[in-house]
Amino acid sequence: MAPRRKRVLAANWKMNHGPTAALAFLESFLDRYAPHDDRTVILFPSALAFSAARTAAAARPDVRFGVQNIHSAEKGAFTGETSASIARDAGAQYVLVGHSERRHVFGETDAQTAEKVIRAASEGLVPVLCVGEKIEEREAGQTDAVVVRQLRAALQALPPATTAGVLIAYEPVWAIGTGRTATPGDASSAHSAIRAELQAIAGAESDAIPILYGGSVTAANAAALLAAPGVDGLLVGGASLEAESWASICNS
Ligand code: 13P
Repeated sequence: MAPRRKRVLAANWKMNHGPTAALAFLESFLDRYAPHDDRTVILFPSALAFSAARTAAAARPDVRFGVQNIHSAEKGAFTGETSASIARDAGAQYVLVGHSERRHVFGETDAQTAEKVIRAASEGLVPVLCVGEKIEEREAGQTDAVVVRQLRAALQALPPATTAGVLIAYEPVWAIGTGRTATPGDASSAHSAIRAELQAIAGAESDAIPILYGGSVTAANAAALLAAPGVDGLLVGGASLEAESWASICNS
């Protein structure tokens, strides 16, 4: 029997919504989304909107918060960066690691991604590890090989019990912000390769790990993606910026 994992709906606001917009968003979103026991909602605001957003949701502990990035060092002279412990202190429970924009716009390597996963886990933040292939890799039939390489690189140094506490997001690079969504079948196929690799890395404990799909998710396609075998949740960019569409996705 496949384990029943709680659905996870995560909003990556990227470089959108300052404190003022975050506050207005939360007022509207919380009116439209009542707490659900069977799902977890996580918001990833920009660093400077984080505290305003979290304060606006203070009466709703069912809505959780994460940061979009951390530095791998514990602390020190890294102007402009945020450490895992600062993020924790601000109320973050999660951190995105290895997002396609970090990898392909900012040049983050598999090795740096691994260091961030280790730092996050050691400071008590749940890493949401993002993996996904570029279009030329998909066309060359390398989708599974790419996500397996990214998983191994990021998780190899963690003990299995720690690995069991991470979240994975499959985000094909060609689907991010392009309006070109993976089909539910594409998502299921990649999620099944990811699930098999998680088993190989962490054994039975890996059954607890939710695998989210991300890439051009909208209120219109969310239900079909969530119904795809192996899809435990969604990581949403553009469609999470408006309270109405985000609430509709969370209520799916
Ligand atoms: P879009 O939903 O805008 O395609 O972004 C996906 C994403 O990168 C979420 O992390």
